[in-house]
Amino acid sequence: MQKQEIIISQHLEESLEKAIFSHPHDRLFVLTDETTYQTCWPVISKFKSVEDAEHIIIRPTDTYKTLETLATVWTELSKRGGTRHSLMINLGGGMVTDLGGFAASTFKRGILYINIPTTLLAMVDAAVGGKTGINFNGLKNEIGAFAPATSVLLNTEFLKSLDYKNICSGYAEMLKHGLISTEEHWTELMAFDLDEINYEALQNMVGKSVTIKESIVKQDPYEQSVRKALNLGHTVGHAFESLALAEGRTILHGYAVAWGLICELYLSCLRESFPKDKLRHTATFIKTYYGTFAFDCRKYEDLYQFMTHDKKNSAGEINFTLLGDIGDIRINRTAGKEEIFNMLDFYRETMGC
Ligand code: GLY
Repeated sequence: MQKQEIIISQHLEESLEKAIFSHPHDRLFVLTDETTYQTCWPVISKFKSVEDAEHIIIRPTDTYKTLETLATVWTELSKRGGTRHSLMINLGGGMVTDLGGFAASTFKRGILYINIPTTLLAMVDAAVGGKTGINFNGLKNEIGAFAPATSVLLNTEFLKSLDYKNICSGYAEMLKHGLISTEEHWTELMAFDLDEINYEALQNMVGKSVTIKESIVKQDPYEQSVRKALNLGHTVGHAFESLALAEGRTILHGYAVAWGLICELYLSCLRESFPKDKLRHTATFIKTYYGTFAFDCRKYEDLYQFMTHDKKNSAGEINFTLLGDIGDIRINRTAGKEEIFNMLDFYRETMGC
């Protein structure tokens, strides 16, 4: 996979100019959604390097991460003279960087693009590592490609205007990175106060988080082995998201991952001797800041069925990434229905629901 340059930028104007001019192009496009056009584009609109940019603005939120939106981006690129030598900047959260990355990687068989993620979730996860795509036929990220941005510019100034829930949502992926890396980083993450955010400390931890993801993606860009570590918390997390969707409840991705982490750490204790005190500590942190996703035992079968349909499975078995300890990654693990139901009992007892 082509190399991706990740720049933790204190001076966005300088970094963006450098990124743009190191990729000679005939036309420059900026993709935003209606929200990031209003709130984030003004941060860069005065920069000389983007003064001639063409704008493509799409509807916001995951609801519009569709084939129709993708087609409007292709149409706009085409109508406004985009060629194989054009360059695109995706300015927004994960929806914009996922859909924009896929649009860029398929238009004229692929043009270069730069990601400027504006949410914590996009900074530490979606915009980094080359996964692009759209939802299709009701399935999340069903169509897509591995196609990394040439540059990802991270500027944590954008986080200051982000609401509490979106900070927590992104922070869940950081917790996951802590759990799969080192005790030291996990301890630092557990000590952070999400109610009184210290942005300098957060910026520092974002840097560490991205470095962890980057190093894993470098070893296994196409998720054949160690990249599966990044799926920790996601098998159950996706099932929670699917149940929420089926019941018309809205939950943010990171919240589902946080609750999924509690479940998958429980399985890790059961199957891989993950230390119980670290499970308890992580669960307490998550309960404090993320609250609870409540369901009763009549939903166990539905959750189990959602897990059996996860696209990470193979040979009919539910695929989990588990841990033997912090940083001790055990991929391609499975669990039976009884263990999964016990896990859901544990989750409900721990969360008091
Ligand atoms: N979001 C997990 C990955 O990029 O592999």
